[in-house]
Amino acid sequence: MVKICCIGAGYVGGPTMAVIAFKCPAIEVAVVDIAFARIAAWNSDQLPIYEPGLEDIVKQCRGKNLFFSTEVEKHVSEADIIFVSVNTPTKTRGLGAGKAADLTYWESAARMIADVSKNDKIVVEKSTVPVKTAEAIEKILMHNSKGVKYQILSNPEFLAEGTAIEDLFNPDRVLIGGRDTPDGQKAIQALKEVYAQWVPKDRIICTNLWSAELSKLAANAFLAQRISSVNAMSALCEATGADVTQVSHAVGKDTRIGPKFLNASVGFGGSCFQKDILNLVYICECNGLQEVASYWKQVIRVNDYQKNRFVNRVVSSMFNTVSGKKIAILGFAFKKDTGDTRETPAIDVCKGLLGDNAHLSIYDPQVTEDQIRKDLSMNKFDWDNPIHLQPMSPTVIKHLNVVWDVYEATKGAHGLCLLTEWDEFKTLNFKRIYDNMEKPAFVFDGRNTVNVQKLRDIGFIVYSIGKPL
Ligand code: NAD
Ligand code: UGA
Repeated sequence: MVKICCIGAGYVGGPTMAVIAFKCPAIEVAVVDIAFARIAAWNSDQLPIYEPGLEDIVKQCRGKNLFFSTEVEKHVSEADIIFVSVNTPTKTRGLGAGKAADLTYWESAARMIADVSKNDKIVVEKSTVPVKTAEAIEKILMHNSKGVKYQILSNPEFLAEGTAIEDLFNPDRVLIGGRDTPDGQKAIQALKEVYAQWVPKDRIICTNLWSAELSKLAANAFLAQRISSVNAMSALCEATGADVTQVSHAVGKDTRIGPKFLNASVGFGGSCFQKDILNLVYICECNGLQEVASYWKQVIRVNDYQKNRFVNRVVSSMFNTVSGKKIAILGFAFKKDTGDTRETPAIDVCKGLLGDNAHLSIYDPQVTEDQIRKDLSMNKFDWDNPIHLQPMSPTVIKHLNVVWDVYEATKGAHGLCLLTEWDEFKTLNFKRIYDNMEKPAFVFDGRNTVNVQKLRDIGFIVYSIGKPL
C-alpha cells in the first residue's frame, strides 16, 4: 500500500487529502499538523473548515484510509510521498517585508523531513511558493540526507474555497513539475498515477519544476487581474451611466475573453491573491524587472482603490458623516460558501467605517463573533502570524456588535452594506428591513446581488457597484 503524508491540515491539505483518500482506496493518507486544536476538529463532527461536500467525504474515509494526526514525525517517516501544504504568508518583517513569501513554516517542515526520514521519499510542494523554492528545499534535504534520496515535485493547487470538492473532483488541470532526470521523471510518474485514478490523463500536465512553480503565481495573478480590470471599469461606469453588469456580459461574450470571473465587487479577498501577487512583484524586482513588477502591483492598487472607494461612497452618501450612526454589515467572509475571512474586503470596509466612528452591527452565517473581533484588531498581514495579535482598540470593542440575524442587524440602522454574496441575501424581506430602519435608509451593495429597482421602489437609496446612481 502506498503511503501518503500531508504536512499541514488547512484549507488545502484537508480537502485535497480527503479527496485523494476517497478516490484511491488503496492509498493510506495521513494528514498531520502541529496545531492540536485543528487536528482534534478534523477528528470530530465539527470540521475546522466549512466547505460544501467535505464533511460527507471525510466521514466516509476517516479511520479507513484517511487519518488526521499530530504525530508528525511518525507519519512523515513512514510515508512514500510527502505533500507539504503549510502556510506561506507574506513576510511581516526583515528583507522583503510586505511582499516576499515567508518560508519559515516550509523550511521547518523540510528540516524535519530530513531529520526523520530513513527511506527514499518524494516530497511534493503543495503550498504556493516563490519560483526556485524547490532548489532551496533540495539543498536542505540533501544537506542532511544520511544516504536517503529525495525527489522534489511541484504540484500547486488550484482549488477555490467554497467549491473545493467540486474543483478537486473535476479539475481543469493537475500540474506536476519535476526534474528532467530519470529519477525525476519516475517521481512525476508516481504522482501522476495517484491523480490518474480519477483525473483524465490529458488534464495532467507535466513540466519542469520552475514552470510549475511559476504557473501557480501566474494563474492567480491573471485571475486577480480580471477582477481589478472589471472593478476599474465599474468606477468608469458610475461616472458615465454605463452598467458594469451589461459591460461584463458584452465583453465576456467574446470567446477569446470568456464570461467567468468578471463580476465587479467591493474588491477581491482571500488568503492568496494579494499574497501571491506581492510575491510575484518581489520576484520580478529581485530579477531587475521593474516594469513587470509595477504592472502586477497595479492589480493590488486597484483592489485597494475599490475598497476605499466603497467606504468613501458610504460616508459621502450619508451626508459626509457616519459618526454615531448604526450601519449593518451583511456578510463578512471573503466570498459565499466559506467561513474564511482571510484578507476579506469586509475587514477594510469595517475598519474604514469604524475610523469614521460608525456603530457596526455585523451578520455572517458562517463567521463567529470571536473571529470578526480578532480580524478587526489585527494589522495587515498579521492574520497568518497570530503571534502579532494586537490588543483590541476601545473603538472596536465599543462600536461593534455581532448578531445572528439579518433583521436584528438592520433594525434601527441608517444604512446597510452587503459585503458577501450569500444566497440567503437574495431572498431577504427588504420591505420588513426598510420599515425597521432609520430614514432615509441606504443600501450599499458591494456584490451586485440586490434588485436595485425593486429596492428603490420600496424607498431605499441604493448604491450598487458600477450601476447608474
Ligand atoms: P492554512 O493556514 O489553512 O493551513 C496550513 C497549516 O499548516 C496550518 O494548519 C499550520 O498549523 C500547518 N503547519 C505550519 N507549519 C507546520 C509544520 N512545520 N508542521 C506541521 N504543520 C504545519 O493554509 P492553506 O489555506 O491550506 O494554504 C496552504 C498553502 O496552499 C499556501 O501556500 C497557500 O498559498 C496555498 N493555497 C491555498 C489555497 C486556498 O484556497 N486556501 C488554494 C491554493 C493554494
Ligand atoms: C483563488 C483561485 O480562484 C484558485 O484557483 C486558487 O487556487 C486560490 O485562489 C488560491 O491560490 O488560494 P479563492 O481565493 O478561494 O480561489 O476564491 P475565488 O473564487 O478566486 O475568489 C477570490 C476573491 O475574488 C473573492 O473575494 C471573490 O468574491 C472575488 N471575486 C471573484 C470577484 O470579486 N469577482 C469575480 O468575478 C470573482
